[in-house]
Amino acid sequence: MRRRLMAAVAATVAGLLTLTACGGDGGGAAQGTQGGGGEKKVEVFSWWTGPGEADGLKAMREIFQKNNAGLEFFDAAVAGGSGDKARALLTTKLQAGDPPDTFQGHAGAELQGYIKAGQLEPVNFLYDELKLKEVFPQQLIDQISVRGDIYSVPVNIHRSNVMWFNPGVLKEAGVAEVPKTIPEFVTALDKVKKAGKVPLAIGSEWTMVHLLESVLLGSLGTDAYNALWTANADWSGPAMTKALNDFKTVLSYAGDPADDWQPAAKQVADGQAAFTVMGDWAYGYFHNPPDGGLGKKSKTDFDWAPSPGTAGTFMWLSDSFTLPKGAPNRDGAVAWLKVAASKEGQDAFNPKKGSIPARKDADTSLYTDYLADALKDWGSNKLAGSIQHGVVVNDAWRTAINEAVGLFHEDKDVAALQSSLAEAAKNSGQ
Ligand code: GAL
Repeated sequence: MRRRLMAAVAATVAGLLTLTACGGDGGGAAQGTQGGGGEKKVEVFSWWTGPGEADGLKAMREIFQKNNAGLEFFDAAVAGGSGDKARALLTTKLQAGDPPDTFQGHAGAELQGYIKAGQLEPVNFLYDELKLKEVFPQQLIDQISVRGDIYSVPVNIHRSNVMWFNPGVLKEAGVAEVPKTIPEFVTALDKVKKAGKVPLAIGSEWTMVHLLESVLLGSLGTDAYNALWTANADWSGPAMTKALNDFKTVLSYAGDPADDWQPAAKQVADGQAAFTVMGDWAYGYFHNPPDGGLGKKSKTDFDWAPSPGTAGTFMWLSDSFTLPKGAPNRDGAVAWLKVAASKEGQDAFNPKKGSIPARKDADTSLYTDYLADALKDWGSNKLAGSIQHGVVVNDAWRTAINEAVGLFHEDKDVAALQSSLAEAAKNSGQ
C-alpha cells in the first residue's frame, strides 16, 4: 500500500503540469452560509501567524467576512514555521475529540495520515457543488483522496527548492555567478565566509530538514530522489552517502540557527548573510509592504534561483483545508472551505502568501516577479515532493527524519545520519 501511494506521489509529474487557464468560473467566491444551530464562531487552525505568513490568511479572512456576515472568523493559528508545533497540538486535540472547525494540512502523505486515522469528513459534496474537479489538477486531487473520496481543499502550490540570496553580498565577496551546482555553491559559500559575512542563514531545526531535501534533490538528481518514496528506494547506498556528505559540507557554512525562517531570511535581506534555502513563502516576507513583510526590492535587495543542482525541477507542496469529523460549526467550516476553494479567495491569498494558486484558472496577471517564474516552472518543470512539508512522508516519518537531522547537527556523523534515515524509511509503515 505504502509503495503504491509513494509511487503515485513520485509520479505526479505529468498531471500536475497543467496550470493553463481552462476557462469557466467553476465555483467562484463563496456565498453567504449561516452557521448551523446559530453557531457564529468558525475556528480556523493554521500556523500562519508570523510576518509574511499572516498576510495571505488575512486576505482570505476578509473575503470570508464579506461573504458571511453572520459568521465570525476565529484565528486559532499556532506560531512556528512549517507547523511542527501546530501539528503537535492538533494531534492532541483530534485525539481528545476536540477538533477545530477546519485545519490546514499538507496535500500528500501528511493528509493521508489524517484520512487513515478517520479524522476527516469527505468533501465530495463541495467538489460536486462547486465543480472543483474541473479546476484542480487531477494529480493534486489524487494526493488528497482515498478510494474516490476527496478530503480537503487545496489553496495553493508552494515551491520548496528555492535559494534566496543577497546580490550585494555576493558581489562584495567576489561571487560573480549565481551557483548552479552543489560544488559551485560550496565555492560561493567559502568566498562569503572569507569576506566575513554569514554564508548560509538557517533557522530552527525544521529549516535544516528543509535544506536537506533541497541538497538530496540536487545531489541525487530528481529520479533518484523520487525513487526514495517507491519500492526502489536506496537509503543505504553510496549515492546517499555522497548526498549526506554534501549536506554536511553545506551545513558547515551555516550561521547560528535563528529562531525561525523569518529571522534567517531577514539576515539575507539585511545584508548580514548571503544565502538561505527556503520555500517561496519567503517571497511574501521579503516583498510584502512593511506592515507584514520587509518591503524589500526584488533583484536588488534579494534575488532567487533554484537551489543548487535542482534547476528544471519544482519541489512542490500544497496547503489545504479540511473538514474534521465532529467540527463544532460544520456549516461555518464549509463556508470557509468555499472561500478557500474560490478563484477570488485563491487570487487574494496567494500573491500575498508567496505561492501560486492550486486552481488552474487563476488570474495570471496577479502573479508577477518571482511568482511569474513559479507559475512558469510549475507548468514546465519535472516535479518532486517535499519531505518537510508533508508530500512524500507522513508526520511520523517526518518526525523521525527531524530527530535524525537534529542529532546530526550536534554530532555531524554522516554514517549515523544515513543509518537513522534508512531505519526511519524501513519503519515508516507508509
Ligand atoms: C509550510 C507551509 C507554508 C508555510 C511554511 C512556513 O509547511 O506549507 O504555507 O507556512 O510552512 O511556515
